[in-house]
Amino acid sequence: MDAESLRQSLAKNGQEHLLQFWDKLSDAEKSSLQKQISSIEVESVLSSFHDVMKDVDHAQKKIDDKLKPVSTDVFGSFVKSSQDKLKSFEEKGLTQIGQNKVGVLLLAGGQGTRLGVNYPKGMVNVSLPSEKTLFQLQAERILKVQQLAKKLTGQKCVIPWYIMTSEHTKGPTEEFFKKHNYFGLDKNDLTIFEQSRLPCIRFDGKIILEAPSKIAMAPDGNGGLYRALRNHQILEDMSTRGIEYVHVYCVDNILVKMADPIFIGFCIDKGARCGAKSVVKESPTESVGVVCKVDGIYQVVEYSEISLQTAQLRDSDGNLVFNAGNICNHFFTLDFLKEVSSIAQEKNLKYHIAKKKIPFVTEDGQTSKPETPNGIKMEKFVFDVFQFCSDRDFAVWEVLREEEFSPLKNSDKESKDTPTTCRQAIFKLHQRYVEKAGGKFINSDGKTDLVVCEISPLVSYAGEGLNDLVANKTFVPPVDIEMGANGVLIKDGAQ
Ligand code: UD1
Repeated sequence: MDAESLRQSLAKNGQEHLLQFWDKLSDAEKSSLQKQISSIEVESVLSSFHDVMKDVDHAQKKIDDKLKPVSTDVFGSFVKSSQDKLKSFEEKGLTQIGQNKVGVLLLAGGQGTRLGVNYPKGMVNVSLPSEKTLFQLQAERILKVQQLAKKLTGQKCVIPWYIMTSEHTKGPTEEFFKKHNYFGLDKNDLTIFEQSRLPCIRFDGKIILEAPSKIAMAPDGNGGLYRALRNHQILEDMSTRGIEYVHVYCVDNILVKMADPIFIGFCIDKGARCGAKSVVKESPTESVGVVCKVDGIYQVVEYSEISLQTAQLRDSDGNLVFNAGNICNHFFTLDFLKEVSSIAQEKNLKYHIAKKKIPFVTEDGQTSKPETPNGIKMEKFVFDVFQFCSDRDFAVWEVLREEEFSPLKNSDKESKDTPTTCRQAIFKLHQRYVEKAGGKFINSDGKTDLVVCEISPLVSYAGEGLNDLVANKTFVPPVDIEMGANGVLIKDGAQ
């Protein structure tokens, strides 16, 4: 398309300002800008923008009036289930894994802005004694759960790992895995793909130009997953491999149980096509979304979307009414993913907006960062597909926070969800695993308080298999239980 036709086509949608520096651009810059413009479905993006902006003022009032907690029919709880029940869920999950029917899908396209790192969050090392990164911990949990399934079923199996990245995280993620030899996984069982981007838009509906030949773009949210699954033929790959169930999770939870057999078994037992893990919200203002019903439809209402008054509501036992804290840990059947990723269905997922300070180009061609929000980013959310489920095919599995949820959101300048809190969550959980298996700790000064204890996922996935290693033994922290070339190695402060 020549410049004049491009200008006319943009003018139809009030976006001709995108060419304001055209005459000063080099040929390469012109071609790059033209490519960016043609990657945007301008009309459809603007129509979504106007829809969300129209809704925004009424949204909160509307939501608060319509909220209801999750029905007891779809709900299950780790603590309230008997040991027999948990065992049967676990065996059901491991059996499916053993039959190569389970895949895991990591959402890793976020930019880690709050944490303040300029590389993918999965590459963060929170200074565990092993110095393992989030990616390595996850890879090793996959390896271990494959082994557990093999032990039960006698069959060698594979849990393929799909990682959704974005423009910023794809390259470094690929390099990192390659550099670390895929942490012992077969590289053919790892698929890294990229989600789409959307332009950032000023409140008055103008797409933001960040530099003379660069449009301000941002990833389309973790709900961009469904479009990306379609664009990259991921569901076809899953079908070819015989996958029937997919565990989807977010990158920053250091305690995440990959392909958790108990969760998978529970969801299958419920006949669910879609499920969510939850933890009890620790306070009304905790920054987690809440799994609930809005107007009878399953949904997660984000912490920013619920009013304090509603978040504070308590039942007659003093528990928060809306306490099913979403930990971004979901179960889907492949059939369900195929359905919701179809163009017809995916289109029904509404955008959410975040008001942001978006760098923009000034009249003299310089990029400037505003002091206050000047526009919006539009995102879809992964859980927005819950709306396509009913009590018949949805499930919520409540787990213990101390065993399954410790997210890395902030830097150590904050007090919550930091590298330090993640590290401590591992130490406390692994201390409990050792104690449950009959081991004891003693500090050199005779006290046992915060114990530094790390168990490699290659040794134990969720505390199993430790009895023979630690029962009736006393350890001096720091304790490191690692898998060596010839078996398990236990190092402690006494050595
Ligand atoms: C998310 C949940 C929230 C939950 C909380 C628990 C969503 C929309 N919100 O919130 O309900 O209580 O986790 O920790 O799921 N990501 C992408 N592409 C993007 C944006 C994000 O892949 O465009 C990934 C991130 O890399 C991350 C995950 O999605 O793995 C969650 O994103 P994040 O922005 O961290 O969500 P929260 O606001 O923490």
